[in-house]
Amino acid sequence: MARAFTSVGVVGLGTMGAGIVEVFARNGVDVVAVEISEAALERGRATLTGSTDRAVAKGKLAETDRDALLSRVNFQVGLDALHAVDLVIEAVPEHLDLKQRIFAELDRVCKPEAILATNTSSLSVTEISVATTRPHQVIGIHFFNPAPVMKLVEVVRTVVTSADVVADVEALCARLGKVDVTISDRAGFIANALLFGYLNHAVSMFESRYATREDIDAAMKLGCGLPMGPLALMDLIGLDTAYEILDTMYRRGGRDRRHAPVPLIKQMVTAGLLGRKSGRGFYTYERPGSPVVVPDEQTPAASQSALADGARGIAKVGVVGSGTMATGIIEVFAKAGYEVVSVTRGVEKSARVFEAVKTSLNKGVVRGKLGEADRDAALGRINWSATLEHLIDVDLVVEAVVEELSVKKALFASLDEICKPGVVLATTTSSLPVIDVAMATQRPADVVGLHFFNPAPIMPLVEVVRTIRTAPETTATARAVCAAIGKTAVVCGDRSGFIVNALLFPYLNDAVKMLEANYSTADDIDHAMKLGCGYPMGPFELLDVVGLDVSLAIQRELYLELREPGFAPAPLLEHLVTAGYLGRKTGRGFRDHTRR
Ligand SMILES: NC(=O)c1ccc[n+]([C@@H]2O[C@H](COP(=O)([O-])OP(=O)(O)OC[C@H]3O[C@@H](n4cnc5c(N)ncnc54)[C@H](O)[C@@H]3O)[C@@H](O)[C@H]2O)c1
Repeated sequence: MARAFTSVGVVGLGTMGAGIVEVFARNGVDVVAVEISEAALERGRATLTGSTDRAVAKGKLAETDRDALLSRVNFQVGLDALHAVDLVIEAVPEHLDLKQRIFAELDRVCKPEAILATNTSSLSVTEISVATTRPHQVIGIHFFNPAPVMKLVEVVRTVVTSADVVADVEALCARLGKVDVTISDRAGFIANALLFGYLNHAVSMFESRYATREDIDAAMKLGCGLPMGPLALMDLIGLDTAYEILDTMYRRGGRDRRHAPVPLIKQMVTAGLLGRKSGRGFYTYERPGSPVVVPDEQTPAASQSALADGARGIAKVGVVGSGTMATGIIEVFAKAGYEVVSVTRGVEKSARVFEAVKTSLNKGVVRGKLGEADRDAALGRINWSATLEHLIDVDLVVEAVVEELSVKKALFASLDEICKPGVVLATTTSSLPVIDVAMATQRPADVVGLHFFNPAPIMPLVEVVRTIRTAPETTATARAVCAAIGKTAVVCGDRSGFIVNALLFPYLNDAVKMLEANYSTADDIDHAMKLGCGYPMGPFELLDVVGLDVSLAIQRELYLELREPGFAPAPLLEHLVTAGYLGRKTGRGFRDHTRR
């Protein structure tokens, strides 16, 4: 018969433990909440009451329900209080020796039929289980942060965990309103194995001053729709915990250098900058434990005007190209009030782009977002041309032609001859080095990358890519123009993938490798990232939308530039592309889209 789980124990009431207590108590389960000292117990109690009080204030929990919830929790110092519970979940710091000691003690204290679970993120559940005389009753129950909010639980069975224990824990997760994925004992399980390489890479971008913390976080939020940026997430997880997880994953996960903790993390931990819980990590918080970020010395000055940065005035913009990106960019500038010169390779192409822009603007009219007069004015601001000579008096040129270096270089050489001095020359390349394009001109200081996202009229982000020759005024002008067209600009160096693609595609590639290794299914991996980390789409959903050929090309570029062995494209991705399974556009990628 299935176990009833009428009372459970939680050991360690830190970031995770306090949240796990809340999950159980909210669902009518009695909890014995255990800490190492009275002071730590008080901190845990304060976290729980703080969280439930916030839920009451937001109208998500009735006062009587909060009181009932709190009355179910019995706070105690020391493991002896756990003698009668049916299940224990351990959530102490991520150290194997500490967890083994606690499990040996739990084995002695708890009743023989009790299940002993660990919330470890990266340590071997098997190694923890052998510290007890009941490894078949030891299991991983990995909650996500914040535990009361995130829907996912990873249930980790070892080779000795009994099938009935797994089934009972799965049923318990359902009772808690959680979605579980059951997997075997591998470093980082599903979500962290895919997440931590990305987080560590983001920290290394910050450490090397490739981009600011605000820009790295904004890029991933606005470019990928993530609920929070990687550095803000590191602060939420806790830098000490993140360090231990990375360190364990590096050692257990095949010594992938991408998991070797970036030195800055260790330095911050040593300096007591642990993230939200200590009041300061990558950002500064109102007080320890608070989610409210307050300005500090790294916060960009809001009052800094574009003119003070030396930004040049822009009135007339040239856009070269007739593809998807050029079309979207023409619309964006015309709608924002700029006079636009569109240059394509012929009258027919111009007519097609004109139709596409008109159709898109008409959609805005139908949806009530744009007045008819504004639409007509926007269209009236666009001049159509088939020759670059018409760019003689523009202030900014945005190039969006085919992604081939020789073509772009030839174009920039021509622009150099035609355009007046002081013009900002921008390329929308997503994978070529901007410096190569810049050096095709005699004015590399005026050349910058303006990486728009598709569809340009909708996506709020633009990556401004400065090369080692780009002048500060050019970057400032690019920033000011982005603000004027209603986009958020993030500034980064001239490296393959800029910010977003460099952080996104290795993660997608890792998901493919995980599938290829048969660790889990595409559905469960998608579930884990959506429900455990709040991603708008799982990696396989996204790969099918982006296109497997496009993803493979970007991953190859990253691998070629950085020579990072972990970036080598997944063989399965290569095979699918070779087989013509490119995603939604061909009807089949990781999933078959023709049957739905
Ligand atoms: N932080 C996250 O986002 C996250 C997410 C999922 C899982 N985890 C995992 O959860 C576990 C806990 O991580 P955390 O971030 O909550 O750590 P934390 O440092 O915030 O909390 C750990 C708590 O354990 C207590 N503790 C230490 N020794 C103890 C003992 N002997 N007996 C009782 N309590 C003791 C500490 O006083 C502290 O309150 C780790 O295994 C971690 O990998 C963390």
